[in-house]
Formats: sequence, structure tokens, C-alpha cells
Amino acid sequence: MVKRFNWQIGREQDYPYDAPPPKRQVAYVFDTNKCIECQTCTVACKTSWTSGKGQETIFWNNVETKPYGSYPQAWDSKLMDKCGGCEWEKNGEGDNQLYQLNSPTIFEKDGPDKPPLGHLPTERDYSSPNLGEDDITGMVDQGHHFEGLHPVWMFYLARICNHCDHPACLAACPRKAIYKRPEDGIVLVDQKRCRGYQECIKACPYKKVFYNIINRASEKCIGCYPRVEQGNVALCVESCIGKIRLHGFLTTDGEPRADNPLDYIVKIRKLALPSYPQFGTGPNVFYIPPVHVPNEFLEQIFGPNVEDAKKLYKALKDDRQLLGAMMLFGASDRILIRFEVQGDEAVGWDVDDKEVVRVPFTEPTYYRKHLDEKTGAYRQNTA
Ligand code: SF4
Ligand code: F3S
Repeated sequence: MVKRFNWQIGREQDYPYDAPPPKRQVAYVFDTNKCIECQTCTVACKTSWTSGKGQETIFWNNVETKPYGSYPQAWDSKLMDKCGGCEWEKNGEGDNQLYQLNSPTIFEKDGPDKPPLGHLPTERDYSSPNLGEDDITGMVDQGHHFEGLHPVWMFYLARICNHCDHPACLAACPRKAIYKRPEDGIVLVDQKRCRGYQECIKACPYKKVFYNIINRASEKCIGCYPRVEQGNVALCVESCIGKIRLHGFLTTDGEPRADNPLDYIVKIRKLALPSYPQFGTGPNVFYIPPVHVPNEFLEQIFGPNVEDAKKLYKALKDDRQLLGAMMLFGASDRILIRFEVQGDEAVGWDVDDKEVVRVPFTEPTYYRKHLDEKTGAYRQNTA
């Protein structure tokens, strides 16, 4: 057991393996306010990576409706019950405000010699991926209308492997069949080493390792590494029609850079938050919380910074640098490692430092003439 600093919980924590941080860490920001749960990401991932035998109920990417949806069933509430609640302590004020977790992480709960706290889902838990989809928190009676508050709510949570800083799957495997790539922090299962012990599945709080009953080995999201190696975004990111996703790298060898869109949104402005930071794995998918959902619920998932993130999101209109970074979501198939706001445009550069995208703050409007002079035809859809 070594002590490792976990910035998401504001303190050191116990972790079974030591390894230097990767040269850079693959990371994602998902804007929950924009997700429409069309499952295009789910289908893009499934048809590309998990359409074989034994993979019928394996979804490396899934989108579930909160509060009632979960895949596998109750993956999060079961672990929260076992953990027995979490406790955050506030230190500092204003921009220096930091929260420290005072309750134990899954690596600490049962003591240093025990595996991470977890649970193994049953086959039945995987049998209904869509259970709870579109279920809302209460009844909507006839005549109900919007009055500026949302007493009844739900939101969509898109989920992939978090390629964690301190992966529980890796820590738990007795065969050391799981590794984290030093070049980009992507977490992979070595299929030749894996013997199907399933300790990884039990340990991953997010249940993002899956057992393939035909291969008798575990599988997980590979972070689309063949695409990442070419500088391209993951398939779930490229296919997202809601443009809710941004894929990039967090800086690990120094201070966060204000011109790196991921560093800027996550580390500098803290607009996007990790899911269940209290479990201690240091997940690298960051979520912009849904502004219409009560904080009491959101804080159990995204930690204590929910209200600040919501305020930032609501004020985006007047925050040009942050808005510029947000405009790059879904704007390019290339991974953007640098951005700038130039006049009325947000500009992005790819891993080869080539300018690949320029998004205007205001989309231009074109009016077409009623008569198309070239063809002599009248248009019926002009303004
Ligand atoms: Fe491992 Fe789960 Fe973290 Fe992915 S989300 S790296 S499978 S612990
Ligand atoms: Fe290890 Fe998980 Fe395989 S615990 S042996 S990677 S099933």
C-alpha cells in the first residue's frame, strides 16, 4: 500500500500500487444539459467494438436516466450503501475554496490488506440495460406547466470507463492483467494474461469491466486507443449528435494550461466535475451538472462543487473564454490540445499543432431569395 495524492478528494489516500503518472492523461467532459439520450454513442461503440459472441449484454458506453436508471442495475446505489455515506470538509474561501474528503475511499474502507470495497453484479443485473429509462421523479398531472422550477425531473448520464488515475480494476486483479498506459493513461485488460477471476468487475465502482462468458475473460472500454494514437477523438465522442462531449488530455507534468481546453474547463474553471469522487479512483470523465436538478441529489454523484459549477454554466453567455472552450464540443474529429478565442471565433489546434477548427460565436444567418434565378424555380421556405 502506498500513499498517493488524489486531487479530487483534496488529500493523500492509500492505493495498492505505485506508478508514476502518465505523460498526459486522456480525459473527457460531458455536458449533461445537452444530452438527449439518443444512444447514438452507445450504438457507435457497440457496433464497432462489442458486436461479437459473448458480448450481447456488454455496453462499454451506455446512457442511463437518473435517478432511476442504472446499468448494471443499482451499480452506484449498492456501493454507496456499502460505503455508508461520505463526508466533505470545506477549507478556504472564494477561488481558494477546496473540499477534503474525510470519509474512507473504497481502498481504505476495509483496511490496507483487503481488496477495494465492491460488489459483483448478478447476471440479472445486466439483463435490462434500459430499465428506468425516461422515468421521472414524480407524477405530471393534467394542467401542469413550467413555472420556473422543476419539481419533477430526470437527466441523462452518459457513461464510459473513466480511465481512472487510481484504477480499482487494476488494483484488484490478482493476475496483474490490467495496466495503465504510460503515454496517455488509457486503462486496458491484457486478454492473454486475464484468467477470468472477475475481481476487477467487483472492484470497479462504475462497473465498466465486463465478463465475456464465451472468452472467459474480462473486457472493457479501450478508450478507442487506435484512434487516439492517430490524434482522433473516440467514436462515442465523434458520433454524439448532441455535441455534449469533448475529448482531450489533462496535463500531468506541470501546472494546468489555460490554453488546453480540458485543463481549462476541468482544473482551472472547475465547470466539470468527476462522478463519485468519494470512491477514490480519480475518474477522468468530467460532467457539467444538469442545472435543473436539485443539489441534494447531484452532490452525491458529483461532489460538493455542484452549485459553483451550475452558477458558472448559467453565466456562460458573459464568460467568453469559457464559452469559447465550450463551443469546441463536437466541433472536430481531431483531439484538440490547444485553443484560443480570437475576436468572434473560438479556434482549436490538434495534436500536430495544426489549426483544425474555427467556430463563430454567432452563427451567420443567410436569407435566400424567393425566386432561384439559376433554375427559375420558386422556393417556398424562404424567410
Ligand atoms: Fe478501471 Fe472502472 Fe476506473 Fe475504468 S472506471 S479505469 S474499469 S476502475
Ligand atoms: Fe484479472 Fe479481472 Fe481477468 S481480475 S484475471 S482482469 S477477470
